[in-house]
Amino acid sequence: MEAFEFSLPTKIIMGKERYDEVGQWCAPIGKKVLLHYGGGSIKKSGLYDRVRDALEAAGCEVTELGGVKPNPRIELVRAGAALCKEAGIEMILAVGGGSVIDSAKGIAAAALADCDAWDLYTGAAVADAALPVGVVLTIPAAGSECSAVSVVTKQDTHDKRSFHSDLVIPRFAILAPDVFTTLPRNQIANATVDVISHVLERFFSDSTHVTLTDRLCISTVETAMQLGLWLYDHPEDVDVWGEFALTANIAHNGVLGQGRIEDWGTHGIGHELSAFYDMAHGASLAIATPAWMRYVAQEKPARFVQFAREIMHDYAQDEAQLIESAISDLEAFFHRLGLATRLSEADLAGADLEAMAQSVVKYKPRGQFKKLSAEDCLRIYELAR
Ligand code: NZQ
Ligand code: ZN
Repeated sequence: MEAFEFSLPTKIIMGKERYDEVGQWCAPIGKKVLLHYGGGSIKKSGLYDRVRDALEAAGCEVTELGGVKPNPRIELVRAGAALCKEAGIEMILAVGGGSVIDSAKGIAAAALADCDAWDLYTGAAVADAALPVGVVLTIPAAGSECSAVSVVTKQDTHDKRSFHSDLVIPRFAILAPDVFTTLPRNQIANATVDVISHVLERFFSDSTHVTLTDRLCISTVETAMQLGLWLYDHPEDVDVWGEFALTANIAHNGVLGQGRIEDWGTHGIGHELSAFYDMAHGASLAIATPAWMRYVAQEKPARFVQFAREIMHDYAQDEAQLIESAISDLEAFFHRLGLATRLSEADLAGADLEAMAQSVVKYKPRGQFKKLSAEDCLRIYELAR
């Protein structure tokens, strides 16, 4: 087991309709609140009104900034930071999924920094302060409600980059399962793949003496597959949404990575599909994952044998056949969720593989279980054709 430090500072507030309590969670942190949200799903569902009412009942003064797009943009982060400075905002409430939360984290840090917001993402500047962030989660997928990460896109240069800072870890996150019942099926599919991928990024590791987290990873992937598939067919099942939200949270709240070196190569491969072609994050991982697996399994088969036997429950005796059968089964699962697992199926047969491969490793090395060069990335994209 690797040496590690771990803390989980986000208070999780789980339960139906608990967004009605949001005012009482915000007010002690700051009464001048920036309400940050996406493209309108919260207005359609009525969540927006409930949140505003709760904030006003608690005496909060609300300034709002909507319009966060999936794969959130740096321009809105800049605008939000300027708005926070101008309005004297004391805390940011993100009502949305990973995109809204990540945008809120960027605003939180940029509002108290002297640099341009994008400098935080390139590493040219480091956040040394941030406004507090709270969350009402609307899609359990990215796990941003507990993470120290913000991922933002700069479209003109095809850059999707992240910064990490404990300062932007949300203070609280309300997970009200009734909120998730309005999610369209394609978002349920995307969410399921992202949750599975967050676990696999930790499962594929060379760290030894990690029996407990190995077993937790295995059962978390199995649970995500079981519940995700159920919700894809039964999006109205509130009780299962509660279980899925917990699974999605645990997949990325750091518990499963304790004492392990994590990989994150698949996310690097997937992020370029979002940066170049604005593909949804989960959809990008449905293409990146099987290709990354086929490539890396050639060099390091042992973990893939464990993946095949203990997660996918494949039992072929021949090692190569066993691994291929497990990867094919995972692809079949993604297809069952209506997702493309090849670039050609996503109308991206003509994608610029060379440019994406260079971009994966442009700013920092990618992958730990398999350290990826630009050449490796190109081979992986070719396997995804
Ligand atoms: O914008 P609105 O209208 O709200 O619609 C959203 C959006 O179109 C919709 N939606 C969300 N909740 C809904 C709903 N529609 C109906 N009912 C609801 N209850 O879903 C769409 C997708 O939302 P988004 O926030 O983009 O999804 P997700 O949570 O998957 O977030 C993806 C982003 O998170 C980043 C990804 O790269 C991507 O940019 N990630 C962030 C991480 C982190 N900060 O730790 C880690 C992840 O690996 C990931 O990279
Ligand atoms: Zn992810």
